[in-house]
Amino acid sequence: MLDTIEELEEKIKGCNKCKLCKTRTNIVFGTGNKNADLMFIGEGPGQDEDIQGIPFVGKAGKLMNMAFEGIGINREDVYIANIVKCRPPLNRNPENDEAVACMDYLRNQVMLIKPKIIVLLGNVALKNILGNEFAITTARGKWVEKKGILYMPTFHPAALLRDDTKKIYFWNDLQEVKNKLESLNI
Ligand code: URA
Repeated sequence: MLDTIEELEEKIKGCNKCKLCKTRTNIVFGTGNKNADLMFIGEGPGQDEDIQGIPFVGKAGKLMNMAFEGIGINREDVYIANIVKCRPPLNRNPENDEAVACMDYLRNQVMLIKPKIIVLLGNVALKNILGNEFAITTARGKWVEKKGILYMPTFHPAALLRDDTKKIYFWNDLQEVKNKLESLNI
């Protein structure tokens, strides 16, 4: 485990622990406040993220930004990362060996950032962090506490682009997160 986010980011440069290194343009390390109380974990970079090296800058990210603005979450105040740091080809789900290879990096990030709340965006984040027994349709909107961190599973913003009816649930889940932050006085 490394002691600073900067050291960790430096270490990850040139990572070749899994096959995604062969097709990536940029490693998408993570972005935001290194001391955030609130962290978001997505699945993996898409095409826009791969090109820019920043998470959630494509269509799904823009939708998430709109929800942030509406609810009063400042993107600069939170930290955003993914289960895998390199783009899976054709935006397929990360494979198990890829998620496992990348997990130590994410663990190290969480250890250094020390968020109080982590929002898990979609099934891939949910299953890799809380376990395969969870499924997003039943777990979303319900708090799970593990090792002193509160987890809120919700739909991945890309799922909202495919199905409008999910938007209200995503919005409500983020509102619940905002309320919790306020009630914790942070
Ligand atoms: N989808 C994700 O899961 N992560 C990103 O960074 C972008 C899209």
